[in-house]
Amino acid sequence: MIDFQELLARRRSVRQYEDRPVAPDIIHELLRECTLAPSAGNTQPWRFVVVQNREWLRRLSDHSKACLLARIEAHPNHFALRYEAYLRDPDFNVFYDAPCLILIACPKALKTGPLDVALAAAYFMLGAAARGLGSCWIGLGACIEAPDIRAELGLTPGDQVVAPLILGYPREVPATPERNAPQILKFIN
Ligand SMILES: Cc1cc2nc3c(=O)[nH]c(=O)nc-3n(C[C@H](O)[C@H](O)[C@H](O)COP(=O)(O)O)c2cc1C
Repeated sequence: MIDFQELLARRRSVRQYEDRPVAPDIIHELLRECTLAPSAGNTQPWRFVVVQNREWLRRLSDHSKACLLARIEAHPNHFALRYEAYLRDPDFNVFYDAPCLILIACPKALKTGPLDVALAAAYFMLGAAARGLGSCWIGLGACIEAPDIRAELGLTPGDQVVAPLILGYPREVPATPERNAPQILKFIN
């Protein structure tokens, strides 16, 4: 069993993957494990979509890029503006050619849903690292609006995609990006 401190150090955002699939059993295990995350009122609002098909991954990447570019046009201060050059590059795959994508969604109407999903995503990424797998949260892959694509993925109009996570066997694990010291506003004894 891997030590928890070591696990925290080992989990990195991986953007280079081997060309080999992740066995469905492992994915099911990770999904079961991440539902052990806490959720507000134990609502467990997370819903999962698993995509292992390369054409689908490319299609979703292209769609999300186009969707973000449209949002940038509509709102010039949109957060994705700083990634515009990548989004306009036809060769850029927001999912870095990873073999697997897990979308974690929750009902749009549930205010605490994104918080719960973020916790499940963290558990998922730690579970992946414990098994020698790499993962990365891909915020640029969350813009999935086309009704036909959403329907094919099993997403209802009331679902919100919060956490797109790529998964696979790392070709390279990057070094830990530097962390700032915790900003402790007060420590009251
Ligand atoms: C909400 C969120 C969105 C992210 N979106 C992207 C993304 O679209 N593309 C990407 O390459 N990394 C993305 N990341 C990964 C971060 O860049 C990464 O966590 C950060 O650089 C720290 O590196 P580490 O995860 O290895 O500690 C995202 C992370 C989070 C938490």
